[in-house]
Amino acid sequence: MKYFLIFFVFLGFFSSIESAEAGSKKIVVPENFQSGDAEKGSQLVESCAACHGADGNSISPDWPKLAGQNQKYIYEQLKYFRDGDRMNALMMSVTPYLQTLEDSDLLDIAAYYSDYPVSVGQAKNDEELLELGTQLYRFGNMKKGVPACTSCHAVQGQGNSLAGFPSVAGQQVGYLTSTLKAYRSKERNAGESSLMMQSIAQNLSDDEIDALANYMHGLYQ
Ligand code: HEC
Ligand code: HEC
Repeated sequence: MKYFLIFFVFLGFFSSIESAEAGSKKIVVPENFQSGDAEKGSQLVESCAACHGADGNSISPDWPKLAGQNQKYIYEQLKYFRDGDRMNALMMSVTPYLQTLEDSDLLDIAAYYSDYPVSVGQAKNDEELLELGTQLYRFGNMKKGVPACTSCHAVQGQGNSLAGFPSVAGQQVGYLTSTLKAYRSKERNAGESSLMMQSIAQNLSDDEIDALANYMHGLYQ
């Protein structure tokens, strides 16, 4: 009964966001989204491999994996970096390069990474941490105003490629932690969708962020 109620509340949360989006003219999801050309993308990513890996599976826990990420999400984020809406010291090193590229090139890069399978991560086997992470990810915390992550990122963390909701399965722990904190401090603020994550992260403590990052890192399909 309790979970049923919670589920209901989150459904409401989700649909209110959808209608808010439909109500304003800013449509996050472009209609008739065209896929990029992975083959062409492969010619454009030489300068990315040092950090993101040749196949999009970064080795450092602090650098995001791009492998298996949906095209729409990668494409949007690349535009934010290129146009200076999303800032990061390390990504800044390729901003001048990104500025030489057309939107269609960015889409081809997105297609390239999207095609690779994401490497499987291993959650730390700490019972308390896992329990908190599972609980929050699957059911949220109604009292604190935290919705279930599953409603947008899916039970196994694959996200929603049509909507461009990012996959979080197997993502690097250090990156998940720092990016959730960046939403919380509103430092990560590129685009309308980031507002959604800002308001969610607002209600998460450091311990909860650690638990969620550990849980998401261990998710796989
Ligand atoms: C020097 C290391 C470095 C290089 C080189 C680099 N990146 Fe990144 N990239 C990062 C880091 C670190 C982040 C996380 C930024 C943040 O925390 O906001 C990132 C984030 C991203 C993201 C967003 C990931 C997400 O899940 O939101 C994309 C997409 C991306 N990089 C693509 C590229 C592409 C394409 C290139 C090559 C043109 C590239 N990067 C080169 C370090 C690098
Ligand atoms: C209503 C839908 C929705 C819900 C619920 C939601 N997210 Fe998100 N999440 C998004 C969207 C959309 C983005 C991309 C935002 C952007 O463009 O910055 C995102 C981005 C993220 C990112 C960054 C991914 C990356 O590669 O940089 C993380 C991590 C994340 N969410 C974790 C969570 C967690 C943990 C929860 C549950 C506590 C949650 N999300 C709940 C929609 C949602």
